[in-house]
Amino acid sequence: MARLHLPLIPSGEITPEPVYLNRRRFMQVGTAAVLAPLLPSAQAADPLAGLAPLSSRPGPFGANEPLTDIAAVTGYNNFYEFGTSKTDPAENAHTLRPHPWSVTVTGACAKPANYTLEDLLKGQALEDRVYRLRCVEGWSMVIPWVGFPLSSLLGRFQPTRNAKYVTFTTLYDPEQMPGQRRSVLPWPYVEGLRMDEAMHPLTIIAVGLYGRVLPNQNGAPLRLVVPWKYGFKSIKSIVRISFDETAPTTTWNRAAPKEYGFYANVNPAVDHPRWSQKRERRIGELFRRDTLPFNGYAEAVASLYQGLDLKRNF
Ligand code: MTE
Repeated sequence: MARLHLPLIPSGEITPEPVYLNRRRFMQVGTAAVLAPLLPSAQAADPLAGLAPLSSRPGPFGANEPLTDIAAVTGYNNFYEFGTSKTDPAENAHTLRPHPWSVTVTGACAKPANYTLEDLLKGQALEDRVYRLRCVEGWSMVIPWVGFPLSSLLGRFQPTRNAKYVTFTTLYDPEQMPGQRRSVLPWPYVEGLRMDEAMHPLTIIAVGLYGRVLPNQNGAPLRLVVPWKYGFKSIKSIVRISFDETAPTTTWNRAAPKEYGFYANVNPAVDHPRWSQKRERRIGELFRRDTLPFNGYAEAVASLYQGLDLKRNF
């Protein structure tokens, strides 16, 4: 990932404060289904306006911080399958067809099969989860996701004792994802978690944001969100889940092993070889702020890494 010098979001794209506060209050009560009608002045510019509302309930683990504006959440993205600049995904991801969709489940589990999106979502109670996202490039956002715990999905496949890791794979289809015609990364995009990380209650599968179905550029129809890890772990548009005995070689680790390790826990004490990870710029803010260990979720997750040398296991 190239070092990024973050342009501030143009002032015309910043949501006026009353609208913003309305939105914030709205997300807190967790009934985002009627977002647009409540926000008449933002309606025309709302990039989620055409997407179906999701009905969800407030979940645990809310980040008590102002939300990042929708325009940035949906317009300033990393999704190299649609180009390497931050505005490419919003411009190009319309070629992705997130429905019909299916996910192949394989490896060390009792119920390997090809599951349709409908199978996977059946009976899942959608929750609002406001999480910080800290990109390895040095910027961060606060995003109101709609999703469900990954554990409640993985449990259905009955992983066996040999399942020590979970590997996720993004769709490979250069017709739908034209960025895959260029070998900027080894395709398809692959990510993985240790089983205990995958089953942690903070780890979710997101199907929406800001109370609406996930826009293509954010990883429709299913994307992983692991808030204590750098953003690149949150793999988008997943088509394969595999239960494995050994850790997979992940895309960024394959592309640049000295720069991106398997764990990728947000850690201000371990610099990226080419830049510091001590501070970050929250999108929409002028001044940098300190990056927190585990992105501020240390209390919930630090115990997963007891005894592990986090400088070596970066
Ligand atoms: N998933 C896929 N398939 N391809 C990608 O290029 N980029 C990652 C991650 N998931 C990426 C991906 C990176 S580097 C980040 S920071 C986050 O997605 C960005 O998520 P967002 O665009 O929804 O903010």
